[in-house]
Amino acid sequence: MKNFFELLKKDKKFVIGLMSGTSVDGIDAAIVEITGDGLETEVDLIAFETYPFPSGVSQRILALCQPDTGRVDDICEMNFYIGHLFAEAVKYILKKSGIHTNDIDLIGSHGQTIHHLPKETNTDHNLSRYPSTLQIGEPAVIAHETGIPTIADFRVADMAAGGQGAPLVSYIDYLLFCDSVKTIGLLNIGGIANLTVLPADGMFDSVCAADTGPGNMCIDAIITEITAGTERYDKAGQRAAQGTAHQPLIDEWLQHPFFQLPPPKTTGREMFGNTYAMKCLEACRKSGLSDNNSIATLTELTIQTIVNYIERFIAAQNPIDTLYVSGGGVHNRTIMQRLDELLADTSVEPVDNSGISADAKEAIAFAILANETLHGNAGNLPSATGASVRKVLGKFVCP
Ligand SMILES: Nc1ncnc2c1ncn2[C@@H]1O[C@H](COP(=O)(O)OP(=O)(O)O)[C@@H](O)[C@H]1O
Ligand SMILES: [Mg+2]
Repeated sequence: MKNFFELLKKDKKFVIGLMSGTSVDGIDAAIVEITGDGLETEVDLIAFETYPFPSGVSQRILALCQPDTGRVDDICEMNFYIGHLFAEAVKYILKKSGIHTNDIDLIGSHGQTIHHLPKETNTDHNLSRYPSTLQIGEPAVIAHETGIPTIADFRVADMAAGGQGAPLVSYIDYLLFCDSVKTIGLLNIGGIANLTVLPADGMFDSVCAADTGPGNMCIDAIITEITAGTERYDKAGQRAAQGTAHQPLIDEWLQHPFFQLPPPKTTGREMFGNTYAMKCLEACRKSGLSDNNSIATLTELTIQTIVNYIERFIAAQNPIDTLYVSGGGVHNRTIMQRLDELLADTSVEPVDNSGISADAKEAIAFAILANETLHGNAGNLPSATGASVRKVLGKFVCP
């Protein structure tokens, strides 16, 4: 087994970052070469793959996410099974890239979130208001099956310190993108959309981050419903482009309390999952909207919640010069075009323009977070998560 102290002495490490987001579309795996740590971190992407979930697994995970269908025996078993699938994702990327297991020093695994209850959450079923979050994909299984030391479960330490446990990527955004001249925004459009703003002053404490609301989650949910599962997302945003958004419904939806909250704030499937999306679809149908008009309306909700958040909470103090977009939403041309149109004074670009792959960015972030933990560096940004102190994140598992 690799000794953690030996690892620390290496100036170059090969780390695999693993991530499956709220879209539950597959496990993203990135192999990166990392030099240094903290502000000296340099990272090179060697390989990236998305390991698709075997048929039926996404649905099983989605069932775990909801209080009325998430049974404790299923959660127990799926924690191990998802751990096994994360290990398979590692084997898959190693095979595809021709890299040998022995060349990998460390794994950083985010796991699969099945529930996230930060402070502001107010779901009907909740009796206690103890903030909590649950990521499954047992790291002991990953470490055992791959033979590689694994660091996982990064969110809980931040939450134990009073934070939201998210967004964690903001710290990595700070390490990689901070600019002394320009204010940079990093918008990740996954199932949920989140934005990190790095003001041009380069100060650690002025980084501002939040989830803005749904990203692709509601769009995916209604397309799946409309097509009875034959389509699971709006490829390149084509259906939205063919439809027309119905603004009166969007205006109504924009009244949701989450959109009124200032940063930091986070959300998830508990608030904007299937139940929410089906209510929206029902409202679209009541208003007589066609399928594509409904998709256009939910797509526009994502767009306007991002833009409104920026206008309301960011623009006055820190007008964004460049907004780098990552996550699957970068492939939705309707979203990208509308953001560009509405954010007239901001250059809206895929993060690929900066040299970091939009699809791989989150997986890369968890590889870097693992490296930070290995070096004993704190990995949360209290200004982004609301935690009372900086924390070293994650739990080590030896193979
Ligand atoms: N070619 C595409 N066109 C439009 N949307 C896409 C495309 N590829 C991926 N997406 C969207 O991105 C989502 C996955 O994004 P991802 O960044 O992996 O999110 P998460 O982190 O929540 O898993 C898909 O569910 C889909 O909605
Ligand atoms: Mg994904």
